[in-house]
Amino acid sequence: MPSHLFSPLDIGGMRVGNRIAVSPMCQYSAVDGVPGDWHVVHLGTLAQSGPGLIVVEATGVAPEGRITPRCTGLWSDAQEAAFARLVALCRGLGPARIGIQLGHAGRKGSTAPPWEGRGTVGPRDGGWRNVAPSALPFQADETAPLALDARGLARVRDDFVRATGRAVRAGFDLVEIHAAHGYLLHQFLSPLSNRRADAYGGSLANRMRFPLEVIAAVRAALPADRPLLVRVSATDWVEGGWSLEDTVAFATEARGLGVAMIDVSSGGLDAGQRIAPGPGYQTGFAEAVRRRAEVPTMAVGLISEPVQAETILRSGQADMVALARAMLWNPRWVWHAASALGEEAAMPVQYIRAAPRGRGARPLVPREPAGPAAPAGRGDGRAGDAAADGAPAGPARAPARAAPAP
Ligand SMILES: Cc1cc2nc3c(=O)[nH]c(=O)nc-3n(C[C@H](O)[C@H](O)[C@H](O)COP(=O)(O)O)c2cc1C
Repeated sequence: MPSHLFSPLDIGGMRVGNRIAVSPMCQYSAVDGVPGDWHVVHLGTLAQSGPGLIVVEATGVAPEGRITPRCTGLWSDAQEAAFARLVALCRGLGPARIGIQLGHAGRKGSTAPPWEGRGTVGPRDGGWRNVAPSALPFQADETAPLALDARGLARVRDDFVRATGRAVRAGFDLVEIHAAHGYLLHQFLSPLSNRRADAYGGSLANRMRFPLEVIAAVRAALPADRPLLVRVSATDWVEGGWSLEDTVAFATEARGLGVAMIDVSSGGLDAGQRIAPGPGYQTGFAEAVRRRAEVPTMAVGLISEPVQAETILRSGQADMVALARAMLWNPRWVWHAASALGEEAAMPVQYIRAAPRGRGARPLVPREPAGPAAPAGRGDGRAGDAAADGAPAGPARAPARAAPAP
């Protein structure tokens, strides 16, 4: 029986070839928000392994919306051009759909990359004054952020819309709004960080108002064939904070605005959070949102084994799984998962001879022809090629003709 993991999925009318997503991962390696050579290698390597979807890292919609001064951004022509190159590169390497996570860090902005200690970065070192729903710092010893006024809210919303337009022009297949992990939109949602007395604070409906306005504006800026995803934190893991109940209500509203899938994470808002991470610690949230808000979900968090991923899908906890650290540890996770689940791994023709003897492998079909790729059927590891150059025999079989792209 074919696996769930390697069966195609329809996300808001867009087909992805399998249900494996690369979760967004900040690389803290951009200059002035522009992704560079590191991103070419990082994303290119991941595209070669053939996931259904790659979601590019949290990308600031404005300079002060970045988490660190080294984070990517999407407010300038140079950034848009660099991302367009990256999208084209990935399309030339494999069938993955390429999405981008657009976000605003709010009070968690202007920090140093993890390997520089995550402390606050001052203006002299390229930092900035943060904004937030309320003038409450994340850590008690940090400078309080400026509470956004009506003009500030309109500016942030417009920044999301402009960045969405740039993402579309750069060729991204979808956009994911970052409303999780304690960043700006999550700061509006949680009563722990939102103490506003206006229409954007207080009741659950008021706290959801600004994130929902951003979602509606981004959805309106996206062509109908480009799905919109939203990443949420299902709970703050703090008594009195944002809860699963609230998340279900928010996901229901988001679905009504045309959100195609909710990417269900947790935490990140409050330094006092108490999390007991372990396999499956977030998948129950994805299941609850899927069932109760009747919206497709992506499960994420300590998913590392192919059978574990397959079980999440098969048991109806989620429609897709996202992996972050496991993909960095083993960027060829998709090939190995296929092998473990008895599927044929789809591998670049250049690498296909690496498939273990006796395991089927087929050529990975890029979405667009690119660069110096060997024509299908040549140098693809078939016995004839191996004999020709005296190399050990490669995989058991690889069809001479490529299958059509999903
Ligand atoms: C290096 C790194 C960078 C990350 N950057 C982001 C990010 O840009 N946006 C986001 O929503 N989550 C980010 N995360 C969280 C991951 O997307 C994921 O939700 C989390 O690591 C749990 O999944 P995992 O157990 O498969 O790693 C990051 C995680 C890592 C390890």
